Order: sequence, then structure tokens, then C-alpha cells
Amino acid sequence: MASKLFSVPRVGRQLVHQLPKPQYRAFSAGSQRFSDSLSVHRNKPNNNPTLPFKFSDQNLRLADEILKRYPPQYKKAAVMPLLDLGQRQHGFTSISVMNEVARMLEMPPMRVYEVATFYTMYNREPVGKYFVQICTTTPCQLGGCGSTAIVKAITEHLGITPGHTTEDGLFTFIEVECLGACVNAPMVQINDDYYEDLTPESIKTILTAFKDSATATGAGAKIPAPGPLSGRDTCENSAGLTNLTDVPEWNPEMMMRKDNALDAAPQQ
Ligand code: FES
Repeated sequence: MASKLFSVPRVGRQLVHQLPKPQYRAFSAGSQRFSDSLSVHRNKPNNNPTLPFKFSDQNLRLADEILKRYPPQYKKAAVMPLLDLGQRQHGFTSISVMNEVARMLEMPPMRVYEVATFYTMYNREPVGKYFVQICTTTPCQLGGCGSTAIVKAITEHLGITPGHTTEDGLFTFIEVECLGACVNAPMVQINDDYYEDLTPESIKTILTAFKDSATATGAGAKIPAPGPLSGRDTCENSAGLTNLTDVPEWNPEMMMRKDNALDAAPQQ
């Protein structure tokens, strides 16, 4: 009934269809994306090209060792280990570190920037003394108690969310993709070490131990040993061996071919 009351007469509808249609589409803007932080350098007081960077004498010797692995005409192949060396010395891969590596390898600086911005292991901003990277890829999300519980435990314990550094500068906490230890999920990487088979309790114990070791004077608290925290040695089945539990019985057909057997075989 309502449609009959308010219906547009047929002639009117035809006229509406004949009106010229606007030749544009509405402009819409998505939410702001911050992904350029991965690829764009902005000068800051602690990260700009006027700040000098030189490798220490010890690291120069290491750099020489690294360069010897490559033919002189391909020395730019050393860009990744040299960036890593620079990051270890300086604390992060600043623009000055990248420029120094470019100078040493006689590469255009842009080629070095491309490498450093592609690989996430190069930290282009300063990080805390302990760099906590939690894997939140699917196997770690599903394994054990799951990485979501570990993220929550770290967030509660450190008082920071992923992507931030604690006020005392001790811990930086980020989420990362698979670190290749899926079978020992959930796991975190702290600096160069993996801590695996985590529970919310064990990760809090580890973080407390790291903090204690940073603030202890003399031979105080020790950094916990890396590896699985569930008692297994590496990534063996925690339920024990389930196959290959005894020596397989070989039958003659399964025997391997003897040496020179091919030589003795008649030629086709
Ligand atoms: S999914 Fe976490 S280490 Fe592979």
C-alpha cells in the first residue's frame, strides 16, 4: 500500500533514467597505514647521516675475514654479514651503519638500504638490551598453550604491548613470523637464543631472570639456558619414540646394491 501511495509515475521514472549520470566515483580513504616505518628513513637526533660510524678494530678484523669468503669483484655479497656486524656493534642498523657498509663494499648506498629494509632482522630503530621476539605464526598459535597466552603473559609482565620498549630500556618486545622452531611451540627468541615449549609461567621466570642479570652486580643472577623448557633435549617427541623402536628386519630384496654390481650387470 505504502509503495502505491508514494510510487513515482512511470513517465517520471523514465525521465530519471534518462538524466545524465555523473562520470566520477566517490573518493574513499582507508585507514592510515604505518607500514612505511619499515621502509622509510626519517632523520632523527640518534639516527641521521651526520653521526659518524666506524667499525671497531676488532670488528674490522672480522670484516676482513668475512670479505675473504668472496672473490674481490663480488665483495658486495658480504653486505648482509657486514650489516649484521654493524648492528651488533652499534645496537641497531642506523643510516650511518648502512653508509659505512656501502663505502666499504663500494656499493651505491641505495643498494644497502634495499637490503636493510627488506630483512626484518635489521633493526632500524634502537631496541632494548634484551630483544624479545615472539613467534605468533599458526603452529606457535596452536602448539602447547599457544602464543596468544605467551603474548598476554609478556604484556602483563613487562607492562608493554608488542612493538614497544620498557622505560628502563631493558626489553623490546615484538611479534614475528615463524622462526623455524615450530615443533617446540610456543617459543620466543631473546637476542640470539631460542626459548621453547613455553608456558605463561616459564616466560615470566625467564624475563625475571634476564632483568635480574642486567641489574645484578658481580657474579649475580645467571641468564637461563636456552632451548626447550619442557625437559626434552631438542625437538624429539615428548611422548618418547613411537616408531623405529627396534632394528628393522631386512629381507634380501631390500638389501642395497653391492659396490660394482652395475659394472657386472649385462649391458642392454
Ligand atoms: S610457527 Fe613459530 S617457530 Fe614456526
